[in-house]
Amino acid sequence: MESIVASASSQIDDTRHENMPRRGPPGVFVIFGGGGDLTHRLLVPALYNLASAGLLDSHFSIIVVDRADVTATDLRHSFHESLKNFVTSRGTEAVSLHDDIWQRLATSIDYVRGSFEDTATYDALSQKIGNQNCIFYLAVAARFFGPIVDQLGASGLAKESTKAFRRVIIEKPFGSDLASAIVLNERLLRTLDESQIYRIDHYLGKETVQNILALRFSNGFFEPLWNRDNIDHIQITAAETVGVEQRARFYESTGAVRDMVPNHVMQLLAMTAMEAPISFDADAVRDEKTKVLKAIHTVQSHDVVRGQYTAGSIKGQPVVGYREEPGVDPHSHTETYVAMKLMIDNWRWAGVPFYVRTGKRLAARKTEIAVHFKSAPYALFRDTPVDRLTPNIMLLHIQPTEGVTLQFSAKIPGPTVHLGGVRMKFDYSEWFHEGPSTGYETLLYDCMIGDATLFQRADNIEAGWRVVQPVLDQMHAPAGLDFYTAGSEGPKAADDLLARDHRHWLKIGS
Ligand code: BG6
Repeated sequence: MESIVASASSQIDDTRHENMPRRGPPGVFVIFGGGGDLTHRLLVPALYNLASAGLLDSHFSIIVVDRADVTATDLRHSFHESLKNFVTSRGTEAVSLHDDIWQRLATSIDYVRGSFEDTATYDALSQKIGNQNCIFYLAVAARFFGPIVDQLGASGLAKESTKAFRRVIIEKPFGSDLASAIVLNERLLRTLDESQIYRIDHYLGKETVQNILALRFSNGFFEPLWNRDNIDHIQITAAETVGVEQRARFYESTGAVRDMVPNHVMQLLAMTAMEAPISFDADAVRDEKTKVLKAIHTVQSHDVVRGQYTAGSIKGQPVVGYREEPGVDPHSHTETYVAMKLMIDNWRWAGVPFYVRTGKRLAARKTEIAVHFKSAPYALFRDTPVDRLTPNIMLLHIQPTEGVTLQFSAKIPGPTVHLGGVRMKFDYSEWFHEGPSTGYETLLYDCMIGDATLFQRADNIEAGWRVVQPVLDQMHAPAGLDFYTAGSEGPKAADDLLARDHRHWLKIGS
């Protein structure tokens, strides 16, 4: 099989002009749990990147709320240390830290020490915030979401006025199953209006995830093909090489299904399968996403494979199995891998399987959506029977490579007619020269300007949980866990899931 790489840099239209977004509004960005890892690794670097892109107002400030006995100066110092590591470009060149920008941001950082459940903490915050716009970011363990929002309500901090908005950003996990997600939504909505709640899914901050909609709905030639008449099946893969890292305590009670499927994987599926919204207005987009998730047929146990990694090797380095990881029960039945076959009951997708899989300690880090088109109907070319024609696949690469690849057949040069598979590739980084980004910049900026399109509404969250609830219901039985070697393609049972339908997964590793 011959392979040709056609680069998109043979330019048709130079679309690399700068979009100049407007500066965000003045206000205070309050981070509950601001002394933690998320703030150091992602939030502060993202705010720094927004500052350096000129998108923060000169009256923008940050208040960190946490229980640690530290000062604002200590925090500024530790944020600066982690910024040095994390403010790097997406390309090859590291971006150096601009001291003047950092100093301006650093001087705006204040600290409130206190418990998240103590009214005194909220009194202190009220004093500092006054009548300003305010975003409350809950970078805390999920058990604090409800209590913090209750306290914001009781202290009057959640109350908006014509002069000042009050918004709350909530990290995942949003519930641990359908029932708890519903209870949490009800609790938040007792204090806040839906329009004040920004439920974050960091996958939606990824350019390439946002690009799925742009690709589908701003090009005339994809949509007519994007249906059951032309598409055989779709594979969605979110594979990681990392193991459980230092999160055993969290992961043991969470597992791959809860950690990845109702949120990240369902977002990828919804973006791929939703109908065109009537506009790019937040509610129009979120309506369509919810509709398609609601159309997913109740998943059957024989269409689910749960796996757990055993010892193996990643990039040539030996790694232990999940049960040997520090903090993990040596008899743990927590899954680190899940594959599912999902069917969508609507006119566009009836009969087209969506195979999704996600797991840790797999052969490569790779998130991609593979749209497999139906084969040509008959063998026009004598020497290449139809069952040997290269399948037409459109690959949407989400990470680490970002771009789109089209695989199709072409005539191999020569006097006889033989066909070979070729690939045409668009590489995001080759075409667009992007600035440094953690993936959180868009999300934080959108919240500042009040655009909720990339955030999940209550019904989106519940629709995601509704898909996985039947799987969670069946998980109590210890049986049904398939093991796979760390560094492999996943459990054999996942291959069997597709083999049953005479299909196979695209390879994760090279
Ligand atoms: C998080 C999960 O939400 O997403 C992690 O809790 C997972 O377990 C991570 O590793 C994957 O995100 P990314 O952006 O690294 O692909």
